[in-house]
Amino acid sequence: MLSKTGAPSKEPLISSAANGARHAAAAPGTAGPVVEIRGVGHRFGELQVLEQIELAVPAGEVLGIVGPSGCGKSTLLEIVAGLRAQSDGTVSIGVPRGAPDRLPACALMPQGDLLLPWLSAVDNASLALRLAGVSRGEARRRVAPLFERLGLSGFEQARPRELSGGMRQRVAFLRTLMAGKPVLLLDEPFASLDAITRAEMQTWLAAVLAEDAHTVLLVTHDVEEALYLSDRVAVMSPRPGRIAAQLEVPAPRDPDRAAAVTSAEFAELKQSALRVLAGGSA
Ligand SMILES: Nc1ncnc2c1ncn2[C@@H]1O[C@H](COP(=O)(O)OP(=O)(O)O)[C@@H](O)[C@H]1O
Ligand SMILES: [Mg+2]
Repeated sequence: MLSKTGAPSKEPLISSAANGARHAAAAPGTAGPVVEIRGVGHRFGELQVLEQIELAVPAGEVLGIVGPSGCGKSTLLEIVAGLRAQSDGTVSIGVPRGAPDRLPACALMPQGDLLLPWLSAVDNASLALRLAGVSRGEARRRVAPLFERLGLSGFEQARPRELSGGMRQRVAFLRTLMAGKPVLLLDEPFASLDAITRAEMQTWLAAVLAEDAHTVLLVTHDVEEALYLSDRVAVMSPRPGRIAAQLEVPAPRDPDRAAAVTSAEFAELKQSALRVLAGGSA
């Protein structure tokens, strides 16, 4: 059952029955593989977009990535996902992998919800299962119980244009989660939402991650969102994007978001991140 904020109840959001496709890259008993990005650089022709990126995300942790527009955040996620081969450096997901071998380990939620307008919500959410060869009926059967959990009950047959912004984002997130991959790459998942809906979605995502841990790279331009949801936040410099600083978050994803984001410690972390974004040191 969902609370007002959409916080799910106690059972795992994706049970093994609902998700036969969880990828073998996650070692048994752990919450996903370690992601390591070593010396990664990327050029589009003459344009150096990323330079010497060094990041490690332990299994089951959320790494927030903030940085100015155009610093290469989406490019970095596309590289980790295996949609692009980096110009320099190595990416490991458990083990060092070339781009094609990263594809099966990662689910990318791209910027914008990118739902297919002609498909119903339930068919959009089950797209990854359909692409994995699961029949339409079986895919719908696996996705349907999650609609209630995500506050989407009654909207299974709605087209994306009939859903609110927050609902579309939840369908898009569900589609990403249903891919059953151990690494989630979220590119500004709540950017298009108003402040109140965004806060609700953050609380909701915190609850989802509390009961169904993944290794997550969360790109956002919202410092508060990154600091609330992440175990650690990497702050990037303007292009060519480098890691300017990394900030540890002592107690992320407090169910009482309002209390968390108004605490003195949170304000201090936020100030540090904003100083780095302005070109200073933490
Ligand atoms: N396919 C591409 N070809 C050429 N340039 C690109 C391509 N994709 C992104 N860029 C450029 O790379 C830079 C970083 O883009 P992006 O990764 O989307 O930044 P961010 O997500 O941080 O806003 C931008 O200057 C953008 O114009
Ligand atoms: Mg981007």
